[in-house]
Amino acid sequence: MTDIRYIAHLTDPHLLADPAARLHGWAVADAFEQVWADMRACLPAPDALVLGGDLVDDLSPAGYRWLADRLAVLDCPVLAVAGNHDDPQAMRQHLRGAQVHGALDLGPWHLIGLNTQVPGAEHGQLRAHDRRRLDTVLADPMRQCLVVMHHPPIAVGTAWIDAIGLVDQTIFADQMAGGASCRGVLAGHVHQAFTGALGDCPIWTTPSTMRQFLPGATTFAEDEAAAPGWRWLALHDDGRIETGIRRLGDRPRRIALKA
Ligand SMILES: [Fe+2]
Repeated sequence: MTDIRYIAHLTDPHLLADPAARLHGWAVADAFEQVWADMRACLPAPDALVLGGDLVDDLSPAGYRWLADRLAVLDCPVLAVAGNHDDPQAMRQHLRGAQVHGALDLGPWHLIGLNTQVPGAEHGQLRAHDRRRLDTVLADPMRQCLVVMHHPPIAVGTAWIDAIGLVDQTIFADQMAGGASCRGVLAGHVHQAFTGALGDCPIWTTPSTMRQFLPGATTFAEDEAAAPGWRWLALHDDGRIETGIRRLGDRPRRIALKA
């Protein structure tokens, strides 16, 4: 029987220094707490947690410390990548124990976190250092690789947000075409659930833990009908990935029975 590793992807919480403060009318800390509670109920013992960036909107140490207090109850590794709303140095300082733009090995699985942040900009770009790391991982046929990045590496069909996407998508696509071990890419940034592909490799984005953006919109538009959420993934030893989205208000469900 093959083993399965269960992971949770939470992204774009846009937390603030004051957990009682609101951002764009959203009680962001409260929304995160609710999503966090759903994740904990569905996956009481995840094998890893992945944080997809835009963690602290005001880049405050207090915001990262508030998040670190939540992470402290977990008994699993954490992989985190920066979004355009993040301070990577503060992430490393305050999210103690988390792999910030690092990697995690879960059995045959290798999760690699890439930093796409361009300081002061909304769009994303890969660094040469990360491209070399990715090349090394993709060249190893013995590993099942899951790539984690904030900016999706393909357009999601929402024009205004695709305009602030990853600028070096062609380079990334060429890299992926040269490696057979990548089983999926997890991204945030777009505040909506999306599934696409680069060749045979699926690309998933995950809803924000706060407000959602309307899929297909040409100019900025919130998706007021879509609730905050998160994504679960079941990584099979043979390289298959099952995945799904949970949103606040969904019927309670235990995803992993092994806890
Ligand atoms: Fe965001």
